[in-house]
Amino acid sequence: MRILGIETSCDETALAVVDDGRAVLANLISSQAHLHERFGGVVPEVASRAHLENLNPLLDLALRESGTTLKDIDAIAVTVGPGLVGALLVGITAAKALAFALGLPLIGVHHLEGHIYANVLAHGAIEPPFVAFLVSGGHTMLVHAPEPFRYRILGQTLDDAAGEAFDKVARFLGLGFPGGPELDRLAMMGDPDAIRFPRAVTQRGYDFSLSGLKTAVVRHVTAERGRGREPALEDVAASFQEAVVEVQVDKTLAAARDTGVATIVLGGGVVANTRLRALMSTRAEQAGIRLFTPPPELCTDNGAMIACAGFYRLSRGDRTALDVGASPGLPLG
Ligand code: KG4
Ligand code: ZN
Repeated sequence: MRILGIETSCDETALAVVDDGRAVLANLISSQAHLHERFGGVVPEVASRAHLENLNPLLDLALRESGTTLKDIDAIAVTVGPGLVGALLVGITAAKALAFALGLPLIGVHHLEGHIYANVLAHGAIEPPFVAFLVSGGHTMLVHAPEPFRYRILGQTLDDAAGEAFDKVARFLGLGFPGGPELDRLAMMGDPDAIRFPRAVTQRGYDFSLSGLKTAVVRHVTAERGRGREPALEDVAASFQEAVVEVQVDKTLAAARDTGVATIVLGGGVVANTRLRALMSTRAEQAGIRLFTPPPELCTDNGAMIACAGFYRLSRGDRTALDVGASPGLPLG
């Protein structure tokens, strides 16, 4: 079954053609980062307009690259939430138009379920129960999946999503946008033990908080400069990253232990982070836990993960009606 996957929930226009939830025939992403850079964050109206301009040309390219015509497509999968309402609507409207015109089934996909299924694309079907740690520009979430398509949220961020905190700290340090990847690169040259930033261990077991850490970074750099010293930014980056990642890994392993699962699944843009991947891998191995991590290029938003999740949803008989709308705050589960 050949599925066209469409993802426009934030600032990437992404389209993919995937066969049977596994074979990626095309996976194209048009990043809008250059449009949002000068604002230091994603501007919703700018994102919607760019999706509108990019979508049709990208569809032509995806079909050409996959050696597919619209006649070869068997179903349309699209992100229906959560995300920016105007941005989501562009993808959903395109998906509905295609499904209606071609007489094909439509399947709406939860963006975070897509991030989980990036693992299935890369590694094949993953049997629940598992714990998923989902961490992106909009979310930091620990989820228990006791059985297929069932999700119980164990904890989430009380303030900034991790990607958002990476981007804000990167911006403060004068790095580009989105800052996560830049900060990751800078941190490789720094000492993670140079500065002991606070580890945000919140009272509620699996919740996360990063606003205190963010403030601590700003305060440290400002204080150093006040003393006439320019801090080594690579050390600041490495120490900040270590404080974020340590808590994430501790909580994810604790969640696996407490729910009694032997499998952890990672998903979301921040999973591209080198240090998170390395520490999670070491600690999971020590604990005898199977860890699934998508390759870095499937961690950030893409259409293939949406097509893959859509394939598994369609396979069990799910369909989405043509009057579906955008759900900016769609809950997982
Ligand atoms: O999943 P994603 O592409 O979009 C959302 O659903 O939000 O995640 C984007 C986020 C951005 O905040 C970006 O800075 C962060 O993922 N990110 C990283 C890295 N690569 C992307 N954060 C830390 N280290 C990275 N290597
Ligand atoms: Zn995402």
